[in-house]
Amino acid sequence: MIIKSSIYNCCVIELNKVHNRSGNLTSLEDNMDIPFDVKRLYYLYDVPGGAERGGHAHKELHQLIVAASGCFDVVLDDGKNKKVVELNRPYYGLYVVPGIWRELINFSSGAICLVLASEKYNVDDYIRDYNEYIKYSNENSFTI
Ligand code: TYD
Repeated sequence: MIIKSSIYNCCVIELNKVHNRSGNLTSLEDNMDIPFDVKRLYYLYDVPGGAERGGHAHKELHQLIVAASGCFDVVLDDGKNKKVVELNRPYYGLYVVPGIWRELINFSSGAICLVLASEKYNVDDYIRDYNEYIKYSNENSFTI
């Protein structure tokens, strides 16, 4: 579907959780638990207090962002609307569609931000300047 990207296309997905006395386990499978095929996984850790990550948009990348440990906030912005999603459980994932400006803030001590991504790392997929992002999103649609 090719449409203007909106923060309302992003959503929190409740992931499965296998619970037993010795702990919990969450597993993710392409297209079953998450709405895209995963080509890359990365994680942010040792984020210093007060640091902010993100501050960019992607042209084609779909992502699922999980607070694998601790918590942080994700600010989603489509140029018209903004919302803040707090991630604080390893069994919730925030699905972020292409074309959304995002900032990650308020990392707790020891937080781990796990990101599953639909594409391999591609520097050309990034828009790192907010004014350029607004211009790009006004002139382009995104495949969602
Ligand atoms: P960046 O995506 O800007 O991180 P964040 O959004 O968390 O602030 O990436 C930070 C650096 O890491 C940048 O130099 C590119 C590099 N990087 C990779 O080499 N591979 C990857 O998969 C990612 C996400 C980043």
